[in-house]
Amino acid sequence: MTLHPATEHFRYRSGALQCEGVDLDQLAQRYGTPLYVYSRAAVEQRFAALRHAFGPEASICFAVKSNGNLSMLRLLSELGAGFDLVSGGELRRLQAAGVPTAGAVFAGVAKADWEVREALAADILLFNLESEYEVDMLEALGAEAGRPVRLAVRLNVDVDAGTHDYIATGRKHDKFGLTLDRAAVVVERIAAAPHLELRGYHVHLGSLIRTPGPYLAALERVLEFMDGAAVRREGVRYYDCGGGFGTGYGDPGGLLDVAALGRAMLPLLAARGLTPIVEPGRYLIADAGALVGEVLGAKLSAGRRFALVDAAMNDLIRPALYGATHPIVPLREPPDGAARTPCDVVGPVCESADFLGRQLALPELARGDRLAVLAAGAYGFSMSSNYNSRRRPAEVLVHGAEARLIRRREDFADMWSQEIDR
Ligand SMILES: Cc1ncc(COP(=O)(O)O)c(C=O)c1O
Repeated sequence: MTLHPATEHFRYRSGALQCEGVDLDQLAQRYGTPLYVYSRAAVEQRFAALRHAFGPEASICFAVKSNGNLSMLRLLSELGAGFDLVSGGELRRLQAAGVPTAGAVFAGVAKADWEVREALAADILLFNLESEYEVDMLEALGAEAGRPVRLAVRLNVDVDAGTHDYIATGRKHDKFGLTLDRAAVVVERIAAAPHLELRGYHVHLGSLIRTPGPYLAALERVLEFMDGAAVRREGVRYYDCGGGFGTGYGDPGGLLDVAALGRAMLPLLAARGLTPIVEPGRYLIADAGALVGEVLGAKLSAGRRFALVDAAMNDLIRPALYGATHPIVPLREPPDGAARTPCDVVGPVCESADFLGRQLALPELARGDRLAVLAAGAYGFSMSSNYNSRRRPAEVLVHGAEARLIRRREDFADMWSQEIDR
């Protein structure tokens, strides 16, 4: 039985939940819980879908922020991905993983000088210019390095993609990018700057966008902007439509039809000689991951049912931060006809926001049972913390019948290793 409509890589076989060919319960016994488990095949499948949708010339830049594990970066690089960076630390991650940096784009909304210097030295593909002050800053750093800074101007096209307020980035009052009137001025300034080269435009509207419509509305505004003056087109070769491709988190209707987006977008870009760049994070990795936890106890409080588990908001903050909903299933398949009643799956952290799921239809659960929070591969581990002095979880990558530990569980001493107490 496939559990998640968007991926077949987590399913019950003989009553046990497996990731590809590996039993999650065995992984939990071997590595402990909470534990992140990722399916390599799921990442490969999504990458292939993007390549098919956007064509061989497109740069598919994986959003490192969604899951920066070195093994994952290497896997994506092997598949042919470039990378979307938002910090110098992410660039250092690429370097630590030993993957090429030449295909990276740097979209930091506020960049420090050292980050730009390091990215220039790494010869990344493009810097996304987000604010007017960056014209002088990037020109000065390009002059210092004695090399041109290749830019895409991030445009704020005021398209509301209708997504959660905290993950919407393309409306005019959001902090990202330049409104078109300011961009017109900035483009003139870039043209006059000896060390800056305008190579493209960038838009990122937000995350969990379910339909091609907002992407096409944004592109239409960018093309109109380009039509406004020759200087806005000179040297321009790339259009970066951002990421945010919807994945649904258990809702099959939430998966963006990337093929339809490609079909609509590619001819418009080709007509202008523009190469597409896409920056997906969760589309590639969300459905590929599960967070496995163990039930520490069950309780009924004023008629409300709780499963208290050892995984918590510090391991996966999306439900607390965005009210995100993830499918949660037991590792042992419930018998046919087992009664399911509404249940809150909560962690041990001292916050009422510490829940992984609320009012989910779940069978009876007892101490020692294990659960998997599905679609947890993106913004899971990468947003995890040590809150409540909890060690961050281990991570395992599954490939067919093999499982490889790609991050060990933290030691307690890791948590205070940087503290100075005398
Ligand atoms: C500039 C930029 N590109 C790409 C992404 C990736 O978004 P998603 O993981 O929803 O695809 C983000 C997410 O915050 C972003 O800010």
